[in-house]
Amino acid sequence: MAHHFEPLKNDLILRTARGEDVERAPIWIMRQAGRYLPEYHEAKGNRDFFECCRSPEIASTLTLQPIERFSGLLDASIIFSDILVIPQAMGMVVEMVDKKGPHFPHPLKSPHDGQYSKVLHKDVDVEAELHYVYKAITLTRKKLKGRVPLIGFCGAPWTLFCYMVEGGGTKLFIESKKWIYRHPEESKALLQKITEVCVEYLALQVRAGAQLIQVFDSWAGELSPSTFKIFSEPYLAYISKHLPAKLDEMGLKTVPMIVFPKGANFALDSICNLGYDVVGLDWQMDPAEAVKIRGDRPIVFQGNADPGVLYGTKEAISETAKEMVEGFGGGKKGWIANLGHGITPLVKPDDLRFYLEEVQRLTSK
Ligand code: CP3
Repeated sequence: MAHHFEPLKNDLILRTARGEDVERAPIWIMRQAGRYLPEYHEAKGNRDFFECCRSPEIASTLTLQPIERFSGLLDASIIFSDILVIPQAMGMVVEMVDKKGPHFPHPLKSPHDGQYSKVLHKDVDVEAELHYVYKAITLTRKKLKGRVPLIGFCGAPWTLFCYMVEGGGTKLFIESKKWIYRHPEESKALLQKITEVCVEYLALQVRAGAQLIQVFDSWAGELSPSTFKIFSEPYLAYISKHLPAKLDEMGLKTVPMIVFPKGANFALDSICNLGYDVVGLDWQMDPAEAVKIRGDRPIVFQGNADPGVLYGTKEAISETAKEMVEGFGGGKKGWIANLGHGITPLVKPDDLRFYLEEVQRLTSK
C-alpha cells in the first residue's frame, strides 16, 4: 500500500530534523490551522469539531488553509485532527463543547470502575477506528503537491491519561493525582495500553503519508521531577523505541520524531536522551540555557516564543523573534522555529505573518 506523491519542493524541516546544516531555520506553528483564521470558521460552518476531523475532505482543507494563506512562510503542515481521537478509538465518548473544550461524559473514575477494565482490555482496532485520519493524511499529501512536508501527531500517554480520568480540561488535576498517588500500578497499566495504541497509530499515519511525527505531552509540566520519570518518560521512550521498529516491520522508512513535553523544563537533560530527534521547548525555557543543557548531543530544538507576543506590537514581535534566533545560535543548524505552544484564538493572522517574516528574515542572514 505504498503511496506515490509528488516530490518535495521544500524539505528544509526534514534536513534540519536530521541534524544537517541548513540555509535557514524552518518554521511552522503549533495549531496553525484553527480558530484565529476566518477561513477556518467559514469551512467548518456549523459542523461539530470531531465531524470535521472525521471528514478527510474537510480535514485536508483545514490543514491547507495556513499553507495557502502564508505561502512561502511556512515550512511544514500538520494534519488537522485532535489528540483525543485516541481515547475515542479506545471506546470513550468525547465531545467538543463550543467555547469550553473537550468533554468526556464518562471519565475513568477509579480502577474499580467497570469502565477502566473495559478500556484497559479492549482490543483496539487502530487501523479501522482511525481510518479517517489516514485517509485525511493521504488526501492532504496529494493536495499539498510537495509544497511542504506533512506532520502527523498523537497525544503523549500521560496527557491522554489526564484527559481520560479528568473528563476534560482542568486546572487542579485532582483526578490525575488521585490515580498516580493512590493507584500507581493501575495508572501504569493504562498508560502502557495508551502507549501501544500510540505506536500503531503513528505507524499507520506514516504509512498514509506523514513525513514527521510529533508527540504532544501538553500536561508534562503538571508532574514533579520524580513522577515525570515514572508516569511520562518511560512511555515517551517506549514510543521512540518501538515506532521505528514497527515501521521497519511494515517495510517503511523511519521518520523524524518530535516530542513536546510542555512545562517539563526541569527534565530537559533527560528528555534529550529519550530517543527523539527533536525536542519542543515552551516559552518558559531560555534558548541559550537549553542549548547549554543539550551540549554536544545531536538533538534539534523546536520553539519557543511566547504565543502571547502575537497580541503585542510589531516592535515586541521583532524583539522576541530576535532574542529567540540569537538564543538558538542563528538557525543554521539544530533548530526548528515555532511558538512555545499553540497559537491562540483572537490573534490577527497578519500579526502571525509578521512573526513568520521576521523569523525568516533574521535566520536568512
Ligand atoms: O494546526 C494544528 O496544530 C493541527 C490541529 C490540532 C488541533 N488540536 C485542532 C483543534 C492539533 C495538533 C491539536 C492537538 C491538541 N488537542 C492538543 C495538544 C496541543 C496543545 O495545544 O497542547 C490538545 C491538548 C488538544 C485537546 C483539545 N482540542 C483542546 C483542549 C481543545 C479546546 C481548546 C482549544 O485550545 O481550542 C481542542 C479543540 C481544538 N483542537 C480546536 C482545534 C482547531 C478548536 C475547535 C473549535 O473550537 O473550533
